[in-house]
Amino acid sequence: MEPRDWYNRLHDAGEQGIENADPALDGELRAMRDAAWPVRFDGRRWSAVDPRRRLHSQEIENVLHSSWLGRPLLCLNEADSTNRVAKEKVRDGCGPGTVVLAEVQTAGRGRLERQWDSPAGVGLWFSAVFRPPSLQGAPPYALLVSVGICSAIRKVPGVSAVLKWPNDVLIDGRKACGVLLEAAPDGRSLVAGVGLNVGQRKEDFPEALRSTAISLQMACGRPVDRTAVFDAVLSGIEDQVDRAMREGFGPVMDEYRTLCSTIGAWVKVEMTGRDVYGRAAGVMDNGALLLETGGNEPQAIVAGDITHLRHQKGPVG
Ligand code: BTN
Repeated sequence: MEPRDWYNRLHDAGEQGIENADPALDGELRAMRDAAWPVRFDGRRWSAVDPRRRLHSQEIENVLHSSWLGRPLLCLNEADSTNRVAKEKVRDGCGPGTVVLAEVQTAGRGRLERQWDSPAGVGLWFSAVFRPPSLQGAPPYALLVSVGICSAIRKVPGVSAVLKWPNDVLIDGRKACGVLLEAAPDGRSLVAGVGLNVGQRKEDFPEALRSTAISLQMACGRPVDRTAVFDAVLSGIEDQVDRAMREGFGPVMDEYRTLCSTIGAWVKVEMTGRDVYGRAAGVMDNGALLLETGGNEPQAIVAGDITHLRHQKGPVG
Protein backbone atom coordinates (compact mmCIF):
# COMPACT_ATOMS: atom_id res chain seq x y z
CA MET A 1 0.00 0.00 0.00
CA GLU A 2 1.17 3.57 -0.75
CA PRO A 3 1.88 5.98 2.17
CA ARG A 4 -1.16 8.00 1.11
CA ASP A 5 -3.39 4.91 1.45
CA TRP A 6 -1.94 4.18 4.89
CA TYR A 7 -2.56 7.77 5.87
CA ASN A 8 -6.18 7.62 4.66
CA ARG A 9 -6.68 4.38 6.59
CA LEU A 10 -5.34 5.98 9.76
CA HIS A 11 -7.49 9.02 9.13
CA ASP A 12 -10.60 6.90 8.73
CA ALA A 13 -9.76 4.96 11.89
CA GLY A 14 -9.91 8.29 13.79
CA GLU A 15 -9.22 8.29 17.55
CA GLN A 16 -8.96 4.49 17.75
CA GLY A 17 -6.07 4.46 15.27
CA ILE A 18 -4.63 1.16 14.13
CA GLU A 19 -3.20 -1.36 16.59
CA ASN A 20 0.49 -2.13 16.20
CA ALA A 21 -0.13 -5.79 15.41
CA ASP A 22 1.53 -6.35 12.05
CA PRO A 23 5.35 -5.83 11.84
CA ALA A 24 5.10 -4.99 8.12
CA LEU A 25 2.61 -2.24 8.85
CA ASP A 26 4.79 -1.02 11.70
CA GLY A 27 7.77 -0.68 9.32
CA GLU A 28 5.70 1.25 6.77
CA LEU A 29 4.36 3.62 9.38
CA ARG A 30 7.76 4.23 10.95
CA ALA A 31 9.10 5.13 7.49
CA MET A 32 6.19 7.55 7.06
CA ARG A 33 6.89 9.16 10.42
CA ASP A 34 10.57 9.52 9.44
CA ALA A 35 9.42 11.19 6.21
CA ALA A 36 7.44 13.77 8.27
CA TRP A 37 3.95 12.46 7.60
CA PRO A 38 1.69 13.59 10.48
CA VAL A 39 1.37 10.18 12.13
CA ARG A 40 1.96 9.22 15.77
CA PHE A 41 2.58 6.03 17.70
CA ASP A 42 1.52 5.95 21.36
CA GLY A 43 3.22 2.64 22.20
CA ARG A 44 0.19 0.61 21.15
CA ARG A 45 -1.59 2.33 18.27
CA TRP A 46 -0.71 4.39 15.23
CA SER A 47 -2.95 7.32 14.42
CA ALA A 48 -3.10 10.27 12.03
CA VAL A 49 -2.73 13.67 13.72
CA ASP A 50 -3.94 17.06 12.57
CA PRO A 51 -0.99 18.73 10.80
CA ARG A 52 -2.35 22.13 11.88
CA ARG A 53 -2.58 21.28 15.58
CA ARG A 54 -0.82 23.69 17.91
CA LEU A 55 2.91 23.17 18.40
CA HIS A 56 3.52 21.89 21.90
CA SER A 57 6.81 22.15 23.79
CA GLN A 58 6.42 18.77 25.53
CA GLU A 59 5.65 16.99 22.28
CA ILE A 60 8.64 18.64 20.60
CA GLU A 61 10.99 17.89 23.50
CA ASN A 62 9.94 14.22 23.36
CA VAL A 63 11.21 13.90 19.78
CA LEU A 64 14.07 16.41 19.70
CA HIS A 65 17.37 14.88 18.49
CA SER A 66 19.63 17.96 18.78
CA SER A 67 22.15 18.06 21.63
CA TRP A 68 22.31 21.77 22.40
CA LEU A 69 20.16 23.68 19.91
CA GLY A 70 16.63 24.15 21.21
CA ARG A 71 17.80 23.57 24.76
CA PRO A 72 16.07 25.39 26.26
CA LEU A 73 13.07 25.74 23.94
CA LEU A 74 10.55 28.48 24.60
CA CYS A 75 7.32 27.61 22.82
CA LEU A 76 4.89 30.55 22.73
CA ASN A 77 1.30 30.77 21.53
CA GLU A 78 1.95 34.19 20.11
CA ALA A 79 4.83 36.64 19.78
CA ASP A 80 5.14 39.93 17.95
CA SER A 81 8.44 38.69 16.53
CA THR A 82 10.46 35.75 17.88
CA ASN A 83 13.64 37.68 16.98
CA ARG A 84 12.58 40.46 19.33
CA VAL A 85 11.71 37.98 22.09
CA ALA A 86 15.01 36.10 21.62
CA LYS A 87 16.99 39.36 21.88
CA GLU A 88 15.09 40.18 25.09
CA LYS A 89 15.98 36.71 26.43
CA VAL A 90 19.66 37.35 25.63
CA ARG A 91 19.43 40.61 27.58
CA ASP A 92 17.95 38.60 30.48
CA GLY A 93 20.95 36.24 30.35
CA CYS A 94 19.84 33.23 28.29
CA GLY A 95 22.61 31.10 26.82
CA PRO A 96 23.50 30.00 23.29
CA GLY A 97 21.26 27.24 21.98
CA THR A 98 18.10 28.91 23.30
CA VAL A 99 15.31 28.79 20.73
CA VAL A 100 12.10 30.81 20.79
CA LEU A 101 9.26 29.34 18.72
CA ALA A 102 5.85 30.97 18.23
CA GLU A 103 2.67 29.48 16.83
CA VAL A 104 1.79 32.86 15.39
CA GLN A 105 3.65 36.16 14.98
CA THR A 106 1.74 39.42 14.96
CA ALA A 107 4.66 41.48 13.65
CA GLY A 108 6.94 38.98 11.92
CA ARG A 109 9.80 40.76 10.17
CA GLY A 110 11.78 39.80 7.09
CA ARG A 111 15.01 41.09 5.60
CA LEU A 112 15.13 44.63 4.28
CA GLU A 113 12.37 45.77 6.68
CA ARG A 114 9.74 43.62 4.97
CA GLN A 115 6.82 42.01 6.79
CA TRP A 116 6.85 38.25 7.26
CA ASP A 117 3.46 36.57 7.02
CA SER A 118 3.31 34.24 10.07
CA PRO A 119 -0.16 32.74 10.60
CA ALA A 120 -1.01 29.92 13.06
CA GLY A 121 -1.03 26.25 12.17
CA VAL A 122 1.05 26.26 9.01
CA GLY A 123 4.59 27.46 9.61
CA LEU A 124 7.68 27.26 11.75
CA TRP A 125 8.50 30.74 13.04
CA PHE A 126 11.47 30.61 15.40
CA SER A 127 14.68 32.32 16.47
CA ALA A 128 17.87 30.67 17.68
CA VAL A 129 20.60 32.23 19.81
CA PHE A 130 24.24 31.59 18.84
CA ARG A 131 27.45 32.80 20.45
CA PRO A 132 30.36 32.57 18.01
CA PRO A 133 33.83 32.64 19.61
CA SER A 134 34.12 36.20 18.33
CA LEU A 135 31.82 38.44 16.34
CA GLN A 136 34.79 40.03 14.63
CA GLY A 137 35.23 38.07 11.45
CA ALA A 138 32.44 35.69 12.53
CA PRO A 139 31.47 33.43 9.65
CA PRO A 140 28.26 34.35 7.84
CA TYR A 141 25.89 32.60 10.23
CA ALA A 142 22.80 33.34 8.14
CA LEU A 143 24.33 31.30 5.29
CA LEU A 144 25.32 28.55 7.68
CA VAL A 145 21.76 28.40 9.07
CA SER A 146 20.30 28.27 5.55
CA VAL A 147 22.60 25.33 4.68
CA GLY A 148 21.35 23.46 7.77
CA ILE A 149 17.71 24.09 6.88
CA CYS A 150 18.12 23.26 3.20
CA SER A 151 19.96 19.97 3.87
CA ALA A 152 17.35 18.97 6.47
CA ILE A 153 14.28 19.57 4.33
CA ARG A 154 15.84 17.93 1.26
CA LYS A 155 15.52 14.65 3.23
CA VAL A 156 11.72 14.96 3.07
CA PRO A 157 10.73 12.98 -0.04
CA GLY A 158 9.50 15.33 -2.77
CA VAL A 159 11.32 18.40 -1.46
CA SER A 160 14.06 19.44 -3.90
CA ALA A 161 15.19 22.52 -2.01
CA VAL A 162 18.06 24.76 -3.11
CA LEU A 163 19.49 28.06 -1.86
CA LYS A 164 19.21 31.49 -3.38
CA TRP A 165 21.89 33.95 -2.33
CA PRO A 166 22.20 35.02 0.38
CA ASN A 167 19.98 32.80 2.50
CA ASP A 168 16.60 32.02 0.97
CA VAL A 169 15.51 28.41 0.58
CA LEU A 170 13.67 27.80 -2.69
CA ILE A 171 11.63 24.88 -3.93
CA ASP A 172 10.66 24.86 -7.60
CA GLY A 173 11.91 28.45 -7.86
CA ARG A 174 9.61 29.69 -5.10
CA LYS A 175 10.52 30.76 -1.58
CA ALA A 176 9.87 28.26 1.21
CA CYS A 177 12.06 29.76 3.90
CA GLY A 178 13.95 32.91 4.85
CA VAL A 179 16.50 33.74 7.53
CA LEU A 180 16.87 37.05 9.36
CA LEU A 181 20.15 37.38 11.27
CA GLU A 182 20.50 40.11 13.89
CA ALA A 183 23.04 41.03 16.54
CA ALA A 184 21.84 40.58 20.11
CA PRO A 185 22.10 43.35 22.73
CA ASP A 186 24.87 41.64 24.76
CA GLY A 187 27.31 42.43 21.94
CA ARG A 188 28.47 38.82 21.62
CA SER A 189 25.42 36.77 20.59
CA LEU A 190 23.59 36.44 17.29
CA VAL A 191 19.90 35.79 16.80
CA ALA A 192 18.92 33.87 13.65
CA GLY A 193 15.21 34.07 12.88
CA VAL A 194 13.80 31.39 10.61
CA GLY A 195 10.48 31.49 8.79
CA LEU A 196 9.66 28.16 7.13
CA ASN A 197 6.39 27.61 5.26
CA VAL A 198 5.18 24.10 6.03
CA GLY A 199 1.45 23.60 5.71
CA GLN A 200 0.03 26.41 3.55
CA ARG A 201 -2.07 25.70 0.50
CA LYS A 202 -1.61 28.22 -2.31
CA GLU A 203 -4.77 30.09 -1.28
CA ASP A 204 -3.50 30.45 2.31
CA PHE A 205 -0.78 32.88 1.18
CA PRO A 206 -1.64 36.55 0.76
CA GLU A 207 -2.45 37.31 -2.88
CA ALA A 208 0.84 39.16 -3.41
CA LEU A 209 2.89 36.10 -2.43
CA ARG A 210 0.98 33.41 -4.32
CA SER A 211 3.26 33.27 -7.33
CA THR A 212 6.51 33.47 -5.37
CA ALA A 213 5.92 31.47 -2.16
CA ILE A 214 5.63 27.75 -1.54
CA SER A 215 5.19 25.43 1.44
CA LEU A 216 6.53 21.93 2.05
CA GLN A 217 2.98 20.61 1.79
CA MET A 218 2.59 22.20 -1.65
CA ALA A 219 5.94 20.72 -2.71
CA CYS A 220 5.14 17.17 -1.59
CA GLY A 221 1.42 17.22 -2.31
CA ARG A 222 0.54 15.81 1.10
CA PRO A 223 0.35 16.93 4.75
CA VAL A 224 3.65 17.45 6.56
CA ASP A 225 4.22 17.31 10.31
CA ARG A 226 5.64 20.53 11.70
CA THR A 227 7.08 18.90 14.82
CA ALA A 228 9.05 16.40 12.74
CA VAL A 229 10.32 19.13 10.42
CA PHE A 230 11.29 21.36 13.34
CA ASP A 231 13.29 18.49 14.87
CA ALA A 232 15.06 17.82 11.56
CA VAL A 233 15.79 21.49 10.93
CA LEU A 234 17.26 22.10 14.41
CA SER A 235 19.53 19.06 13.99
CA GLY A 236 20.49 20.27 10.50
CA ILE A 237 21.49 23.70 11.81
CA GLU A 238 23.29 22.25 14.83
CA ASP A 239 25.31 19.93 12.57
CA GLN A 240 26.52 22.89 10.52
CA VAL A 241 27.49 24.96 13.58
CA ASP A 242 29.34 21.99 15.08
CA ARG A 243 31.11 21.37 11.77
CA ALA A 244 32.15 25.02 11.52
CA MET A 245 33.51 24.89 15.09
CA ARG A 246 35.42 21.65 14.36
CA GLU A 247 36.71 22.19 10.84
CA GLY A 248 36.42 25.92 10.22
CA PHE A 249 33.92 27.54 7.93
CA GLY A 250 35.31 26.23 4.61
CA PRO A 251 33.40 22.91 4.46
CA VAL A 252 30.11 24.63 5.33
CA MET A 253 30.68 27.10 2.50
CA ASP A 254 31.56 24.25 0.12
CA GLU A 255 28.17 22.75 0.92
CA TYR A 256 26.56 26.19 0.54
CA ARG A 257 28.02 26.45 -2.97
CA THR A 258 26.77 22.95 -3.86
CA LEU A 259 23.23 23.90 -2.83
CA CYS A 260 23.23 27.46 -4.18
CA SER A 261 21.17 27.86 -7.35
CA THR A 262 22.33 31.46 -7.77
CA ILE A 263 25.82 30.43 -8.85
CA GLY A 264 25.91 30.44 -12.64
CA ALA A 265 22.60 32.30 -12.93
CA TRP A 266 22.00 35.69 -14.53
CA VAL A 267 20.85 38.02 -11.80
CA LYS A 268 19.64 41.50 -11.07
CA VAL A 269 21.06 42.95 -7.86
CA GLU A 270 19.04 45.75 -6.30
CA MET A 271 21.47 48.15 -4.68
CA THR A 272 20.52 51.43 -3.10
CA GLY A 273 19.71 53.75 -5.95
CA ARG A 274 20.53 51.43 -8.86
CA ASP A 275 20.13 47.93 -10.25
CA VAL A 276 23.17 45.95 -11.35
CA TYR A 277 22.94 43.06 -13.83
CA GLY A 278 25.41 40.27 -14.25
CA ARG A 279 26.24 36.60 -13.97
CA ALA A 280 26.79 35.15 -10.50
CA ALA A 281 30.22 33.57 -10.71
CA GLY A 282 30.52 32.30 -7.16
CA VAL A 283 30.15 32.92 -3.44
CA MET A 284 33.21 33.70 -1.32
CA ASP A 285 33.87 32.13 2.08
CA ASN A 286 32.84 35.40 3.73
CA GLY A 287 29.44 35.06 2.05
CA ALA A 288 29.92 37.75 -0.62
CA LEU A 289 28.46 37.10 -4.08
CA LEU A 290 30.91 37.38 -6.96
CA LEU A 291 29.19 39.09 -9.86
CA GLU A 292 30.57 39.29 -13.40
CA THR A 293 29.32 42.53 -14.84
CA GLY A 294 31.54 42.80 -17.88
CA GLY A 295 34.52 44.49 -16.19
CA ASN A 296 37.87 42.75 -15.67
CA GLU A 297 37.32 41.54 -12.14
CA PRO A 298 34.08 40.13 -10.72
CA GLN A 299 32.45 42.51 -8.27
CA ALA A 300 31.98 41.29 -4.66
CA ILE A 301 28.44 42.02 -3.47
CA VAL A 302 28.27 41.89 0.31
CA ALA A 303 24.55 42.53 0.82
CA GLY A 304 21.54 43.08 -1.35
CA ASP A 305 18.43 41.63 -2.83
CA ILE A 306 18.72 39.65 -6.03
CA THR A 307 16.38 38.32 -8.69
CA HIS A 308 17.24 35.30 -10.79
CA LEU A 309 16.72 36.16 -14.45
CA ARG A 310 15.66 33.74 -17.15
CA HIS A 311 17.90 35.40 -19.71
CA GLN A 312 20.96 37.56 -19.74
CA LYS A 313 20.24 41.24 -19.35
CA GLY A 314 22.56 44.19 -19.05
CA PRO A 315 26.12 44.74 -20.12
CA VAL A 316 27.92 41.38 -19.73
CA GLY A 317 29.17 40.35 -23.12
C1 BTN B 1 13.47 36.95 4.96
O1 BTN B 1 13.09 38.09 4.68
O2 BTN B 1 13.68 36.13 4.07
C2 BTN B 1 13.69 36.55 6.39
C3 BTN B 1 12.42 36.10 7.05
C4 BTN B 1 12.60 35.73 8.49
C5 BTN B 1 11.30 35.47 9.19
C6 BTN B 1 11.52 34.89 10.57
S1 BTN B 1 10.04 34.25 11.27
C7 BTN B 1 10.82 34.06 12.80
C8 BTN B 1 11.71 35.28 13.00
N1 BTN B 1 10.96 36.36 13.60
C9 BTN B 1 10.81 37.39 12.76
O3 BTN B 1 10.20 38.43 13.02
N2 BTN B 1 11.44 37.13 11.61
C10 BTN B 1 12.07 35.83 11.61
